[in-house]
Amino acid sequence: MKTAIYPGSFDPIHNGHLDVIERASKLWDRMIVAVAFNGAKTGLFTPDERVKLIKESTSHLNNVEVTSFEGLLVDFVRANEADVVIRGLRAVSDFEYEFQMALMNRSLDENLETVFLMPSQESIYLSSRIVKEVASLGGSIDQFVPNCVKAELGRKLEGPGRE
Ligand code: PNS
Repeated sequence: MKTAIYPGSFDPIHNGHLDVIERASKLWDRMIVAVAFNGAKTGLFTPDERVKLIKESTSHLNNVEVTSFEGLLVDFVRANEADVVIRGLRAVSDFEYEFQMALMNRSLDENLETVFLMPSQESIYLSSRIVKEVASLGGSIDQFVPNCVKAELGRKLEGPGRE
């Protein structure tokens, strides 16, 4: 059974991530979406909230699991006996960052392969940061995120401690 891991911050998941997950779930037997967290770095959503939103957004895909991890990606990949790391590649601007990560990961574990999937054209300009910015300024994000994310973003941005 071939397992692929799709790591990311997912703060929060948006339709571009979902598009990559749907594509990869057709290509691999088992897919693990892994929310990376770093104790020192906080985001708008906690790791548990991010996992919950991804689970809700991917409930229609029966070979997708969702979890979180702290520490090195290569260790998480090894612990889960995975073969491949998946990343979405949106535009040339992503390339340098992705190239650096893929080569660093390969130098930490020469067996690790990174596979890049191109998201749909409609989601090529999406990022969690820009979705949060549009939502915080009152713009509509209906077409950019799953419904559960829209609802939770609304709650977060209205509540105390908003970013
Ligand atoms: O969604 P992002 O923020 O672009 O995802 C980046 C992520 C989480 C995949 C990357 O930062 C990562 O793998 N973090 C885990 C720590 C690690 O292994 N770092 C060294 C490899 S670059």
